[in-house]
Amino acid sequence: MASDLKGLILSGGAGTRLRPITHTSAKQLVPVGNKPVLFFGIEALVDAGVTEIGIVIAPETGEEIREAVGSGDAFGAKVTWIEQERPGGLAHAVLTAREFIGSDPFVMYLGDNLLRDGIVDLVETFRRTDPDALVLLTEVDDPTSYGVAELAGERIVRLVEKPKEPVSNLALVGVYLFTSSIFEAADRLEPSPRGELEITEAIQGLIESGLRVEHEVVGGWWKDTGMLDDMLEANRLVLDEAETDIAGKVEESEVEGNVVLGEGSRLVRSKIVGPVVIGPDCLIEDSSVGPYSSIGPSVTVRDSAVSDSIILEGCRLEGVRPGLEGSLIGRNVEVEGNNGAGGSLKVMLGDNSRVELS
Ligand code: DAU
Repeated sequence: MASDLKGLILSGGAGTRLRPITHTSAKQLVPVGNKPVLFFGIEALVDAGVTEIGIVIAPETGEEIREAVGSGDAFGAKVTWIEQERPGGLAHAVLTAREFIGSDPFVMYLGDNLLRDGIVDLVETFRRTDPDALVLLTEVDDPTSYGVAELAGERIVRLVEKPKEPVSNLALVGVYLFTSSIFEAADRLEPSPRGELEITEAIQGLIESGLRVEHEVVGGWWKDTGMLDDMLEANRLVLDEAETDIAGKVEESEVEGNVVLGEGSRLVRSKIVGPVVIGPDCLIEDSSVGPYSSIGPSVTVRDSAVSDSIILEGCRLEGVRPGLEGSLIGRNVEVEGNNGAGGSLKVMLGDNSRVELS
């Protein structure tokens, strides 16, 4: 089976584009549909039979990630923790994991990526075709934010990281299958203009050495959750697949569409229009929660309206009308509104912040 193939999840980095959330928390732990993004990656590897998994972590956020993942038993995985002392780039992370990988082939999975269809087929193709590397591509609207591939027929001839003038709209998705040849290619790299050792350049090095770099094109949706709008879109995509599961209490309230209501939670005189996921021990009172909202555990929403937002655990919203839309709210945040005296609010709030509209 898959015992020869290891998994490497990159969950370090600085997460600068999701600040202020990432000042206090790892971006890979921000939940979509109330599940941390990173957990989708671990599950994707395990589903593909890859259970020996190294997770690269940064000194600042590593402890929180270790705590959330635990030993890996809950996922059916054996996890090895690999600390990368600075965010030196994806190829630097690979070099940091050299001892863990040894001479085995491996799947590298970026901890902030989400792939609807998982990686079972990709791993199968890698085993069957036995290339030196296999990468995943997808068409994107703005290739300047990604690694971009230039194809000649079915062959990749060139890969460029975040090109100013992209030669195609085919971006590298954050899942790569490598043989240990990638280590020599990474060894030869110099830091890029953004000061990182780029995995894209290491793969370009494999191509230049005449090694076989194959590609597949993604079937289902793919999201890099590195920025707010992407995170919200990932949340919508995940919630589209939610199925109704009401464990909490519904009192004088209306529930429409697919809604998950966690144990110990109460809906009181409220209207919920799914898809919506509400965690355990929440109170939603005299409020409306609209489509594409994920509400974490122990959240209170009173006299408020919420839609298309991610609200992390322990928050309290009161009098927030006409409502919160397209927002990401960190843990234990309090938002006190003015019950409709102003326009709607679009915010991104870090842990422990507080907003008051007067
Ligand atoms: O999402 C796909 C894109 O991912 C590719 O198209 C690009 O070619 C590739 O370079 C990468 O681009 P990003 O700039 O989006 O990568 P980011 O810095 O967001 O890092 C991706 C993951 O790797 C994230 O979970 C953090 C982790 N990481 C990052 C760095 C720089 C590490 O673990 N160590 C690091 O040193």
